[in-house]
Amino acid sequence: MTEPVVPASEYYTDEFAVDPYPTFAELRENAPVCLVKGPRFDSYLISRFDDAKAALTDPRLSKDLYGPGQHYLRIFGPNSEALNRNMLNSDPPEHSRLRRIVSQAFAPRRIEALRPRVAQIVDELLDKVAPRGEAELMHDFAIPLPMKVISELIGIPKADHDQVLDWTQVIRTSGSSKNPERDRAAVQEAQLRLHHYLADFVQAKRARPADDIVSDLIAACDRQGTLSESELVTTTFLLLFAGHQTTADFLGNATVALLTNPEQLALLRADPELLPAAIEELLRFDGPLPVASPRIAAEDVEYQGVRIPRGSVVGVVINAANHDPAHFADPDRLDLTRERGPHIGFGHGVHYCLGVSLARMEAQIAISALLHRLPDLRLAVPAEELRRLPAASPFRGLLELPVRFTA
Ligand code: HEM
Repeated sequence: MTEPVVPASEYYTDEFAVDPYPTFAELRENAPVCLVKGPRFDSYLISRFDDAKAALTDPRLSKDLYGPGQHYLRIFGPNSEALNRNMLNSDPPEHSRLRRIVSQAFAPRRIEALRPRVAQIVDELLDKVAPRGEAELMHDFAIPLPMKVISELIGIPKADHDQVLDWTQVIRTSGSSKNPERDRAAVQEAQLRLHHYLADFVQAKRARPADDIVSDLIAACDRQGTLSESELVTTTFLLLFAGHQTTADFLGNATVALLTNPEQLALLRADPELLPAAIEELLRFDGPLPVASPRIAAEDVEYQGVRIPRGSVVGVVINAANHDPAHFADPDRLDLTRERGPHIGFGHGVHYCLGVSLARMEAQIAISALLHRLPDLRLAVPAEELRRLPAASPFRGLLELPVRFTA
């Protein structure tokens, strides 16, 4: 069967940026595997839950973007290798080697020990905004919280946090200005600077190790010779970027979802024990990574009778799968009491999110504190008017989240 083709102009619309779920429903129903023409590259989108799970564990859908075929060129551009040749863009056995060593440094005990520090950072950020009666929660809270946490975990000196944050924000918000050429140049520049910074940073850590993950990684590599110097840099970048950007966008999306569903918010306020389940439902409802990172068909594959030719880019639409009525009753309704279903907001298969425990912990502490410390919290503008990342962004998140509350 030939696939339905959707031109970029029909897919990446302003309405889609605000609310992509009607489009996802239509794709799931009528074109569960379709070819979307992208601004930079075309990709086959897979949107039903069962297909999505199958695709995320399908060895024929490769993540080896830097291997034969140099598929990264289409997706990330020519200079991306210095930062992006990491575990997320590799297949086993390379992936297993890269992930094993980081998993050791990311041990659950180390993450759990961070709990008081995460709570302290949350309090410090909210101390600043609580007396004001209004805030812009993305920049006052949702972005700095995970950025501070992951920067401290990695061991980035405090004096450099703001600069590193600036570079990562250029990458996160790419495409949101009216000038795509200038945007692309700015991203290239930010990536280049970040790469130089991280290469120097890894060297400095080697000279002066401390109690942080990068020092642990270096020590483990020196003992076992398992990661090259450039892999240490790309791994540090992955932890830095994956470790804050998704969490920041999730905190923004989750706050909007709660504030626009007051009866659910009331349930959560009345029963704090609902919090862990609420976090999972909020992630299912409006996750920050709508499409999993790109896969490449290593051979011709077929899904829903559609042939996906070898070499094609494949996108698994996590946020469409998580609203599949075949798996979630009344899927477009936020229901914090929903029986905990198997959403794929943290992915599935070998690339399942490495930072899941940290993400859950940060989200639970952050959402709970927001609700308790900012009384009568409400949006300062109607939800439809919130400024968002552009439709073609790989991330779903807000540029700004203006709120008011009782000071
Ligand atoms: C709410 C927050 C988060 C969400 C929704 C999220 C989601 C995801 C998803 C969906 C994947 C799989 C991507 C794919 O298969 O293409 C992934 C991978 C990953 N995540 Fe997260 N993530 C979050 C927070 C974090 C945090 C805090 C870290 C900390 C470092 C982290 C580190 C990673 C890493 C290293 C990978 C790559 C794993 C691999 O390739 O084996 N994430 N994440």
